[in-house]
Amino acid sequence: MQEPSRSAAESDTVSGAALSHQHDAHASGEPLNQPSREKHGLAAGDAAAPPSPNWTIDQGWSSYTEAEHAVWKTLFERQTRLLPELACAAFVQGMRALPLEADRIPDFRRLSDVLMRKTGWQIVAVPGLVPDDVFFDHLANRRFPSGNFIRKPDELDYLEEPDVFHDVFGHVPMLMHPVMSDFIQAYGQGGLRAQSLGKLPQLARLYWYTVEFGLVLENGAPRIYGAGIASSFTESRFAVQSPSPNRIGFDLERVMRTNYRIDDFQESYFVLDSLDDLLHLADVDFEPLYQRLDTGPEYAPGMVLPQDRVIQRGDGSYHSARRGENL
Ligand SMILES: [Fe+2]
Repeated sequence: MQEPSRSAAESDTVSGAALSHQHDAHASGEPLNQPSREKHGLAAGDAAAPPSPNWTIDQGWSSYTEAEHAVWKTLFERQTRLLPELACAAFVQGMRALPLEADRIPDFRRLSDVLMRKTGWQIVAVPGLVPDDVFFDHLANRRFPSGNFIRKPDELDYLEEPDVFHDVFGHVPMLMHPVMSDFIQAYGQGGLRAQSLGKLPQLARLYWYTVEFGLVLENGAPRIYGAGIASSFTESRFAVQSPSPNRIGFDLERVMRTNYRIDDFQESYFVLDSLDDLLHLADVDFEPLYQRLDTGPEYAPGMVLPQDRVIQRGDGSYHSARRGENL
């Protein structure tokens, strides 16, 4: 089973399953000696649930402070400088085609106007993490729920809950891509079924290793398409350039048997040959697969198997050093 997350351990109101679908780790490698943070959405407890049954709220765009816009600007400028060299062409094209600018946190209505015309998606504001069934229902109806808050200036490189920078800058460029946008809708539909079958932990691994932490080959080299990487200054370089992690050709069953790290950089990334491979995944009948997954092994995040199609075998140096630190 997946490792318990730090956030889940801190809050008895947040299920690991909810986090595993929506949460991403943007670890910087820096020790976390921070005071406990304000929680949002589901993480803040039942009292924080908005009146709307689907947890949507007004973005409250006019309420953002200059300091909050300034945090967006810092994050936006450094990622837009970095990603043309590291992200796949579809991400960079999506980023440039959207009404995203450095000086202001984007207005979801303006984003949705462009996105709706391109792929039929819209962005809806939510206060933070939402219950799994709510999350899946949004995706199944081509609505992407985005937290409306932004991280504090002293947590630029690590946050425990996805904020507006992660949700918008990380996810929305790929929602401009027709195949990716269809895949995420199919994932929402599959999530509702998996929930009824008690198979969310397995399905969550698919989301994690694609939508959040996926790489894709371009001209023979791995490039970022996952939002958890693309929105992280430190992990975007680590995932593509570091000798430490394994980069392994994507295989659905292999991925769904593989645990992941929620509290640090990934030890292995799974690499698609092409974004078009997601088309096939959207059509998979998962029920027989879930039955197979009931038996057989689960794999630790850093394992390399004899049958793996290894694109780059990592030397594990980063995580070895981290484990040494923790002895
Ligand atoms: Fe995310």
